[in-house]
Amino acid sequence: MSGTRRAVIRGTGHYLPERIVANSEFSQTLDTSDEWIVSRSGIERRHFAAPDEFTSDLAIGAAKAALDNAGVTPAEIDAIIVATSTPDFTFPAVATQVQAGLGITRGFAFDIQAVCAGFVFALANADGLIAAGQARRILVIGAETFSRILDWSDRGTAVLFGDGAGAVVLEAQEGAGTSDDRGILSSDLNSDGQYRDLLYVDGGVSRTGAAGVLRMQGREVFRHAVEKLAETARTAMDKAGLGPHQVDWVVPHQANLRIIRGTAQKLGLPMEKVIVTVQDHGNTSAASIPLALSVAAAQGRFKQGDVIVIEAIGGGLSWGAIVLRW
Ligand code: UT7
Repeated sequence: MSGTRRAVIRGTGHYLPERIVANSEFSQTLDTSDEWIVSRSGIERRHFAAPDEFTSDLAIGAAKAALDNAGVTPAEIDAIIVATSTPDFTFPAVATQVQAGLGITRGFAFDIQAVCAGFVFALANADGLIAAGQARRILVIGAETFSRILDWSDRGTAVLFGDGAGAVVLEAQEGAGTSDDRGILSSDLNSDGQYRDLLYVDGGVSRTGAAGVLRMQGREVFRHAVEKLAETARTAMDKAGLGPHQVDWVVPHQANLRIIRGTAQKLGLPMEKVIVTVQDHGNTSAASIPLALSVAAAQGRFKQGDVIVIEAIGGGLSWGAIVLRW
């Protein structure tokens, strides 16, 4: 039987800005409390980028860490994909800034914008490029500075988000075409623009000429989240031919501990199998999954052959899941 080209995660890395902001800081300016934030979201602290630190800086930090972890040199990278909704500039893509920052002058680089689902969309696209033989090694990065698009007077959103970046080095490896292969086994991507007003930024190049700030109907997004995340995770597992009992780890988008718990429960998976970092990072949008992957990998929690499901939902609404074997 002829082999199947699989996209295997060869290394992971992350970068977090130095400044850590505890929940208590918000109660100085907003009618909120550590107790409310922890009980409603699970968030205890988040990192905020320094004024002179940009999304590309975070992305480059994570990329260098992932290359180091993979034992791959920048010269061996064929493509760079950055998932972000908070780019340094309207254009060029953050990915080209990462490329320059790493001293790479060949291959291609572009950004993907699917908000909190961005990393899932980026990884699925990278998998497709590898399967098509367009690239052998791809850096896939999620990087965000959501602190730059928050309305500091809105307690319903200001306390929830953070800055950071995570990266993976994907590498083409031959598999047998079965679910025993290492690498990405399946993906499931979805969007439904009729819900675009539930979570959006009220500015942009074409509309206002300014970046704008984040607006969210939290309760409504929450309602969609558990339902859609469980459904997309189940669909991705079906596509991979694997059942919940064969799943070793879930690495969910880190927006809210209650959403993470609710989704695990719907999938019939115990929380011991779920990677949770939301307490330390807050919601870092497209960066949250690669950050969680990198933190958990650095803790030695994954062993080769483990089945990992990643799932995310965000503005759009856009949502999706990927099943991969570590
Ligand atoms: O990553 C993209 C996807 N985004 C998400 O997944 C976020 C989804 N949504 C959520 O995580 C939750 O809906 C929130 C954490 C945003 C809010 O939790 P909730 O349990 O849905 O609270 P709520 O919005 O129903 O608000 C309950 C109360 C309200 O007061 P009233 O109307 O009951 O008097 C809010 O005004 O809590 C109030 N509230 C706050 N109180 C103290 C909202 N934000 C705060 C706050 N501190 N920071």
